[in-house]
Amino acid sequence: MSPQEALRTLEQELARGLELIAAASTIEEMEAAEVAALGRKSRFSSVQRGLRSLSEEDRREVGHRTNEVRAALRDALAARKAELEGDRETSLLAADRIDVTLPGRRLRPGSLHPLTIVQYEIVDIFTRMGYRVVEGPEVETEWYNFDALNFPPDHPARTLMDTIYLDPRLLLRTHTSPMQIRTMEAQPPPVYVVVPGRVYRNEEITAKNMPVFHQVEGLAVDEGIAFSDLKGTVETFYRALLGADRKVRLTPSFFPFVEPGAQVDVSCFVCGGEGCRTCAFTGWIETMGAGMVHPKVLQNVGYDPERYTGFAFGGGYDRLAMIRFGIPDIRLLWESDVRFLEQFQAAG
Ligand code: DAH
Repeated sequence: MSPQEALRTLEQELARGLELIAAASTIEEMEAAEVAALGRKSRFSSVQRGLRSLSEEDRREVGHRTNEVRAALRDALAARKAELEGDRETSLLAADRIDVTLPGRRLRPGSLHPLTIVQYEIVDIFTRMGYRVVEGPEVETEWYNFDALNFPPDHPARTLMDTIYLDPRLLLRTHTSPMQIRTMEAQPPPVYVVVPGRVYRNEEITAKNMPVFHQVEGLAVDEGIAFSDLKGTVETFYRALLGADRKVRLTPSFFPFVEPGAQVDVSCFVCGGEGCRTCAFTGWIETMGAGMVHPKVLQNVGYDPERYTGFAFGGGYDRLAMIRFGIPDIRLLWESDVRFLEQFQAAG
């Protein structure tokens, strides 16, 4: 290699190296440019290696230029590297940027289902009267749903209730009354409980009926409980729930687990008792069954019927929720349509 050739190569390599460095748009491309310009296999390196074979004078001249070219390329590399790293940081920051001028995303607060609102109001009233809230299984045995409640084996009520059987012994509870038995079995008297929950009957789906609906059961067993306590309790309850001027009427009715049994009507809270479509122009709304706990039921759970007496009541609250909120079709309660559900607000 002649000194002239060596100097020309150095100029070419300087120009080519500067071009590669300028064209690099990522750190990786820049590292490749560095290898191409100054790496062991680069033409620059071969000039450097060829210095040895030059005369001392030529070596000084070419060597000097070699150092200058190397320095120029290193400077260019360092400058471009700084630029690219700056870019990367800027683009990371850009990706992370928050536009504080954008409108916020609105959080949609949930709302309670109308049935839940009514259920909470009901249990609130009873807990204020000293009742405990318990819940029970929806899959029941015949014993708890019927036998222990003094339904005779062939009693028509078993079929009247349109029971959904899961197998010959297991069924979906047709009412919340089995929890009377389960509660009394689990503790000695006195007992004051309310039981809200789902119940099931094999019924057609219509605007008024669903095969799944809700009941609340109440049970009070203690020494010296009389029928007048039942009346006072349901009256207090309905006045708290539906308005202080509600009247309550008890008429005789039959349920095998109470004696005497009664049907509880409340004066219509839509028309105040005048008569309207909601109460079918009778002024009264049928709300639940009730009565004095049958001595056989007390015996079934090992309570002494000579010492303890009690009352029980139970009824559905889907209809109450519908009347209260003006819901015309029970199926709406099951459709999970948020536009429907978000309209309801708990009172107070
Ligand atoms: N369990 C009855 C039903 O579903 C309602 C009922 C009547 C409950 C009288 C009671 C009661 O606690 O004493 O039709």
